[in-house]
Amino acid sequence: MTSNAPAHFSLLVVDDEPDLRTLYELTLLREGYDVESAGSVEEALLHLKDRTYSAVITDMRLPDGSGLDLLAKLEQGGRRERAIVITAYGSAENAVEALKAGAYDYLTKPVDLRQFRSVVASALGRAPQTAPTVVPSSLPSEGGAVAARPAAREQSRPAPPDLTRPDAPSLSTSQPAEIVPLALRRLSGHSAAMQQVRSLIEKVARSMAPVLVQGESGTGKELVARAIHDVSPRASQPFIAVNCGAIPEHLLEAEFFGYRKGSFTGAAEDRDGFFQAAHGGTLFLDEIGDLPLAMQSKLLRVIQERSVRPIGAVTEAPINVRVLSATHKDVAAEVQAGRFRQDLFYRLNVIQIRVPPLRERADDLAPICAALLERIARDSGVSPPPTLSREAFERLAHYPFPGNVRELENLLHRAVALSGGDVIERDDLGLADDVLIETDDAELDARIAEAVAMPPPASAHSLPSDLVHHLDEVERDILTRALERHRFNRTAAGASLGLSLRQMRYRMARLGVLVAGTDSGD
Ligand SMILES: Nc1ncnc2c1ncn2[C@@H]1O[C@H](COP(=O)(O)OP(=O)(O)OP(=O)(O)O)[C@@H](O)[C@H]1O
Ligand SMILES: [Mg+2]
Repeated sequence: MTSNAPAHFSLLVVDDEPDLRTLYELTLLREGYDVESAGSVEEALLHLKDRTYSAVITDMRLPDGSGLDLLAKLEQGGRRERAIVITAYGSAENAVEALKAGAYDYLTKPVDLRQFRSVVASALGRAPQTAPTVVPSSLPSEGGAVAARPAAREQSRPAPPDLTRPDAPSLSTSQPAEIVPLALRRLSGHSAAMQQVRSLIEKVARSMAPVLVQGESGTGKELVARAIHDVSPRASQPFIAVNCGAIPEHLLEAEFFGYRKGSFTGAAEDRDGFFQAAHGGTLFLDEIGDLPLAMQSKLLRVIQERSVRPIGAVTEAPINVRVLSATHKDVAAEVQAGRFRQDLFYRLNVIQIRVPPLRERADDLAPICAALLERIARDSGVSPPPTLSREAFERLAHYPFPGNVRELENLLHRAVALSGGDVIERDDLGLADDVLIETDDAELDARIAEAVAMPPPASAHSLPSDLVHHLDEVERDILTRALERHRFNRTAAGASLGLSLRQMRYRMARLGVLVAGTDSGD
């Protein structure tokens, strides 16, 4: 039996109506799962005391409490069960509440059994049962506007670490020893804001909750969306990114929902839309604020009903897609102005991740420069990656980057090409004096020190109260930065610090520095 065989999964069904309980039980038993049931919160908790389940499916309204109470207990107990909550029809609020409280997904009454099976399978990380009905084809946007691009399968995932080896690190931080997905690794920066973004990504990745990523242009919104997908159990399924502003209005419906042969002039064959293409995976709606009102209603309907009817098709097909969206607009203001549907906003904005502009997270400038230079050098076959001179970095730190990380990336691209050497000098940046702004000198010095890899001047005043702890902190920070700089390749990071892989491993294990996974260099 493989680990994905149905009998491997055990489910707890919680509902006070015996008829419904029986219906759910029978449906799940027929799928081959192991099923137990309870009629109240209290009874459910008794079951949960004795054993762990793969998932808990609970009604929202129970005689002695609500499904949310059960969710809260699961969260508090750090339990691994995924929770699916069944809410009354039309109570979007409850559904949103449940997702915010950590539910994996929700279903509305009356429960459509096909959808029920599909949501449970998805919660268990099994392949979606309901395949799209339309003949798969290339996406409808070939050669046209920037619209959809299936996730490049760039992440050839390295094998997990062999923890049986005697020198293997004991991964002592809160994270399990799993691979850090590429998109998450690409999100450089150790500002508090960035750390919060990363931890939110990991938190929301577990559920189906819609996430709205907000931020100025070029801040990394798409990278955040990709990271959510990459960390999620859907990582091996498609990630379809759609730029809502780039599709002509009259093509939107066909692009999103697909069409059937002959449904309109020019429809020479059946075509999938973005929703079918993203089936089992994630649909990323970029620039959602640009979607016209008429299309907003249709999108809302699909999200609510979780089924899609291609143009010209007679029936709707259930769809299992997680929706992420992004915008640089203030959508709440768009709602006020009547340009964005309130109910759609409410559905998409269940969880919000704000990516701050680069100028608000000055601490990120140095690590992001290092990461971008590495990437640029690698792409153009330059080795080792160029570094920034002190004067060059100082100039960058005085520039407000209205185009954020994307602008920084373009600027460094140009600078690398212009400099042609190992060190990028200030004139290679091509930044005129009049675009620069004042920056606090003391803070800037610290940042420059980091960017040009010089130790900051030791302060004569502050002596650590606990030297051992202090030195550990310093070492931990250095290891982390070296790992970030070397794309988490422990061999390379170690070598850059004059350490062998074995020494590097020992130190990382001792300090609890997590690198989730090994890499080709190990
Ligand atoms: N924290 C980061 N570390 C490293 N690279 C980053 C970071 N944030 C963004 N980038 C890079 O900057 C570029 C822009 O990022 P992305 O496309 O995700 O931004 P966006 O907010 O979607 O931009 P736009 O508004 O222009 O669509 C990408 O090449 C991305 O890889
Ligand atoms: Mg974008």
